[in-house]
Amino acid sequence: MDAEVAANRVAWEKASQKHVDEYDELLAEAAERKSLTQRELELLQPVLAGAPLVVHLQSGHGLDDFALLDRGARHVVGVDYSVTAATAAHRRARQLEVGTAYVVAEVPVVPLKEGCAGLVYTGKGALIWMRDLEAWAHEVARLLEPEGRLFVYEAHPTVPLWSWDEDEPRIRPDRGYFARSHINDSFPANGAQEWQWSLGEIVTAVVRAGLEIETLEEYAEPFWRPGGVQAAAWQGRLPNSFALLARRKS
Ligand SMILES: C[S@@+](CC[C@H](N)C(=O)[O-])C[C@H]1O[C@@H](n2cnc3c(N)ncnc32)[C@H](O)[C@@H]1O
Repeated sequence: MDAEVAANRVAWEKASQKHVDEYDELLAEAAERKSLTQRELELLQPVLAGAPLVVHLQSGHGLDDFALLDRGARHVVGVDYSVTAATAAHRRARQLEVGTAYVVAEVPVVPLKEGCAGLVYTGKGALIWMRDLEAWAHEVARLLEPEGRLFVYEAHPTVPLWSWDEDEPRIRPDRGYFARSHINDSFPANGAQEWQWSLGEIVTAVVRAGLEIETLEEYAEPFWRPGGVQAAAWQGRLPNSFALLARRKS
């Protein structure tokens, strides 16, 4: 593991302690199985109708795993490099008697069999931790069975640019759309390095890995609103998230 990825992993072990500290609240949310957005449900419904085995890359607290099972997934395997996150998610699954499984591994090297997944689900703060997006896309393609789908619901690549000013949206002077990376100053553990991928780079990586894009939608609504912030950038004029659905050709 390279030094920056290793440092990010240490930061995530620290940040994932939140999943332990807020264990009971997250357990109650997991039991509701409502973490997927309405648009995610609409886009995923035809895929989940086929009862796929789902590999959830960077599964974090794992709440989406319970919602995916509830909507038709046959089985969900979460993959995350945080032992703390994976252990808390596993404990919740056992407590709720839900058959999800968790693997501790560094994406994009996933110790699961080629062609095992009918759906690779990821996002909500995942791609920014990928140092090599082409390697990520090739790993997704390797995991998918023929006709299997990749679904990404993610922060829009322009989001690092938006200020959180409440009066009007502004472009942060310290950020650029074409920057390769930046240090996230609002991450709970200081010094985490986030990589930036433009929409063009994301689409190109997925297509070059052999997937056909079926849907690419951009939304004004962020996938997550941190408590206590009412940024003008989230009020409908700017892109804040996107969804991508792609099919592995047979
Ligand atoms: C913002 S969280 C999002 C996770 C999940 N989508 C959710 O909603 O909880 C990002 C997750 O990615 C994991 N992560 C970051 N880089 C990773 C890598 N290279 N391999 C595996 N997991 C990684 C972190 O441990 C963290 O749990």
